[in-house]
Amino acid sequence: MSRGWLAPLLHAARDADVALHIEAVPPPLAADRLRRQRARLESTRRLEAERGRLSDPTVAAAAEDAEDLAARLARGESKLFRSGLYLSVSAGSRDELEERTQRLRSICASLLLHIVPASFRPVEGWLSTLPLGLDRLRLRRAFDTEALAASFPFAAADPPADADGILYGLAGSGAPLLLDRFARENYNSVLLARSGAGKSYLAKLEALRLLFGGVQVFVIDPEDEYRRLCNAVGGVYLPLAGEQAVTLNPLDLPVGASRHALGERTLFLAELIEVLLGGLASEELPVLERAVRASYAGAGVSDDPATHGRPAPLLTDLARHLAAEGQVGASLAARLEPYATGSHSSLFARPSSAQPDGQLVCFSLRGLPDRLKAPALLLCLDAIWRSLEGPLRKRCVLVDEAWLLMREPAGARFLYRLAKSARKRWCGLTTVTQDAGDLLSSELGQSVIANAATQVLLRQAPQAIERIGEAFNLSAGERRYLLSCPTGSGLLVLANERGEERVPLKVVASAAEHQLVTSDPAELAELELEAQD
Ligand SMILES: Nc1ncnc2c1ncn2[C@@H]1O[C@H](COP(=O)(O)OP(=O)(O)OP(=O)(O)O)[C@@H](O)[C@H]1O
Ligand SMILES: [Mg+2]
Repeated sequence: MSRGWLAPLLHAARDADVALHIEAVPPPLAADRLRRQRARLESTRRLEAERGRLSDPTVAAAAEDAEDLAARLARGESKLFRSGLYLSVSAGSRDELEERTQRLRSICASLLLHIVPASFRPVEGWLSTLPLGLDRLRLRRAFDTEALAASFPFAAADPPADADGILYGLAGSGAPLLLDRFARENYNSVLLARSGAGKSYLAKLEALRLLFGGVQVFVIDPEDEYRRLCNAVGGVYLPLAGEQAVTLNPLDLPVGASRHALGERTLFLAELIEVLLGGLASEELPVLERAVRASYAGAGVSDDPATHGRPAPLLTDLARHLAAEGQVGASLAARLEPYATGSHSSLFARPSSAQPDGQLVCFSLRGLPDRLKAPALLLCLDAIWRSLEGPLRKRCVLVDEAWLLMREPAGARFLYRLAKSARKRWCGLTTVTQDAGDLLSSELGQSVIANAATQVLLRQAPQAIERIGEAFNLSAGERRYLLSCPTGSGLLVLANERGEERVPLKVVASAAEHQLVTSDPAELAELELEAQD
């Protein structure tokens, strides 16, 4: 048995009560029992030898173990215990009970635990699993200290310490928690917590530490929070509003030539327009597709990859071609007017003026009207994704305040697609959001979570805990902890072959790191003053 073997049972058997009764055997009694046991084993061995039989290896191993244990008992290094493990299953109906019991049986079988039903003694069995310390069944096995310690379920998770990992914080025991996202089954992570719980703090710290390890990091920052970090490490800062605003053309084609590029672009444009207009009817899709083709044809771009290097058309051109597509197209063009030629055309209908190129690239949405944040986010993510077509290297894309995108069905679809395809591009998508409800209420949001092998839950809001608890299978204790834990503390949930592993996490930063990642206004004001002096 490995250390913490009972933990998976506790996690998996949610609808069962598990009771572990432990009783110490006084050392003289233990020594006496063991002596008898050894004598029995020894005589078996001798008898076999006398009869000229080959010795039974299991008997030999048991005799050796008994001898070893006797020596340790004599030296006081170990003690003997008797321990009983009982499970009681409850359910609302007989069928449900049958099903739960069956599930429990298979869980136990997978843990190599042999279980027997307490036939004719259900009351005693039930009493034994109540938190009363009453062992009415008294079906026990002998354990020495080491074996018993291995069954302690809460010390199970040694915090992960990956060789190439970066520091995420301290585990409950105070041990450093080193984690390598790129060594997991996928490289995505989600970071869920209520406002002010320290999400952005951890996201920034992680970005900083990943940069150290040579990972390329892209950030989409709705609040202009990452600027100090970006400037401190010489990153590229690209604001989408204000005087130095950069522009991104949604009709740009990806660098790597592909015959499907135009089709994929049409899909993206449909999503962007759906977010911009708050919906796209099914009869509008073919019209849009024809107009997209016509726009590219007008710019001399066809399915032939050799033409993809030519300057891409603009949203203005698309609107013009839409207007020529009969009534449906004309109405679509009219609704697109503010973005194609009107007040917002500077954001959506200009040739791209920047490429997301650099070790750290940070897009800022600060200053954009709220309504435009989701489409702008889509624009940035798309530009980042197109740039990933280049040579492979480890990368990480961080979307802070992802609820901005997730609340739009087309945005959620887009994010889900990225989450699915990130691994093939050696890229980890980090989704940070305070609105767990948004993420969990939609199927796409749940899929984004399911596609993240690394999940961090920091402090949760009372109205969200029910949902979170259900989605992450949290025990009552874990829910209580997440409701009350201090800023920067929470649970790290790692999906792995054995199911799920949770490690309590406390995010810590060095003084220098803290200066770069804090968003406390008082501290920021002080830092600003210092900088002026
Ligand atoms: N581990 C930590 N150690 C010290 N201070 C922290 C830690 N985590 C967060 N803080 C501080 O707590 C405050 C809130 O943190 P942060 O901005 O990361 O919250 P948030 O979860 O991103 O909130 P919001 O959803 O509003 O963006 C900041 O002042 C930050 O400096
Ligand atoms: Mg934040």
